[in-house]
Amino acid sequence: MQYRRSGRSGIKLPAISLGLWHNFGGVDNFENSRAMLRRAFDLGITHFDLANNYGPPYGSAEETFGQILRKDFLPYRDELIISTKAGWDMWPGPYGDLGSRKYLLASLDQSLKRMGLEYVDIFYHHRPDPDTPMEESMGALDTAVRSGRALYAGISAYNAKQTAEAVKILRDLGTPCLIHQPKYSMFVRDPEQGLFDVLEKEGVGSIVFSPLAQGLLSDRYLKGIPSDSRAARDFFLKKKDIGEDKLAKIRALNEIAGQRGQTLAEMAVAWVLRDPRVTSALVGTSKVSQVDDNVAALKNLKFSAEELTKIDDILAGTHSSQSAR
Ligand SMILES: NC(=O)c1ccc[n+]([C@@H]2O[C@H](COP(=O)([O-])OP(=O)(O)OC[C@H]3O[C@@H](n4cnc5c(N)ncnc54)[C@H](OP(=O)(O)O)[C@@H]3O)[C@@H](O)[C@H]2O)c1
Repeated sequence: MQYRRSGRSGIKLPAISLGLWHNFGGVDNFENSRAMLRRAFDLGITHFDLANNYGPPYGSAEETFGQILRKDFLPYRDELIISTKAGWDMWPGPYGDLGSRKYLLASLDQSLKRMGLEYVDIFYHHRPDPDTPMEESMGALDTAVRSGRALYAGISAYNAKQTAEAVKILRDLGTPCLIHQPKYSMFVRDPEQGLFDVLEKEGVGSIVFSPLAQGLLSDRYLKGIPSDSRAARDFFLKKKDIGEDKLAKIRALNEIAGQRGQTLAEMAVAWVLRDPRVTSALVGTSKVSQVDDNVAALKNLKFSAEELTKIDDILAGTHSSQSAR
């Protein structure tokens, strides 16, 4: 494993981190979840990412993680960075969603209980709340850190302007923002439009989620939709979004990956890590072999200028039909 510094902080994160959004819920196979976490840690993945509402049902990924922690990881607590978040709907009524101080601190207390932890390493505001003053949401993160429930504060899904504002408020409070968690992959490149610049200037790290575009950037869908895939569930990844246009791009990218001696999943992970402003690629997995495959990306992180241009052309839909076979 390689470890990269998060912005201008003291914390290094593994270049590849594992997220528990899917496949760690109460409905999932416990021993499979456990095997993926154990394999990840054995490969040097020291960072596991959770949120209050990961499951299903909501909260159950944290419960699963708590059980596995007690069985396997407690002796290694100081070798781990564990994060959780609040910001999306979690419980009924006006206090279980968005960005109030009431919600964020109550949710963090619930998360700690479910995982059986005294503190998390990073506590995130999961998304900006347009109706709560940012001072209130950031004040809650500051309290989380000062009260010892979290070591560091982070934000997710904030745009460039909101990020600059949040970073300033947190700095003025004396709790610097450690990290931002944006969505970033070959298919979703929004952070290149200003967010990465703000993070670099402010010395804040970034851990990019869904670097495989939920599995699209792999060989998973080249021969249809497998019954055990995320798209088969047709909820977070929709079947209708895997049209011929997208498949043509995936095939062409798969070809370039092959020429680099990589699977497409490996190339997708390597591609986000080509930017030094990206601290860690936050992947999800449904089986142990995917953990191995994603970590194997580290064997080739270098891209030639020609490869990057070809990839850009494919993504823009301007590549020649020969490479889109
Ligand atoms: N902050 C936020 O708002 C936010 C939002 C979303 C996610 N996240 C975080 O980011 C993490 C990762 O998100 P994600 O699961 O969407 O990431 P992803 O890595 O883009 O997609 C993961 C899915 O891709 C497939 N896959 C993974 N490795 C593969 C491989 N080597 N070969 C073929 N297929 C492979 C698997 O799909 P199958 O299940 O089909 O096998 C897996 O479930 C989450 O767990 C969460 O921690 C944060």
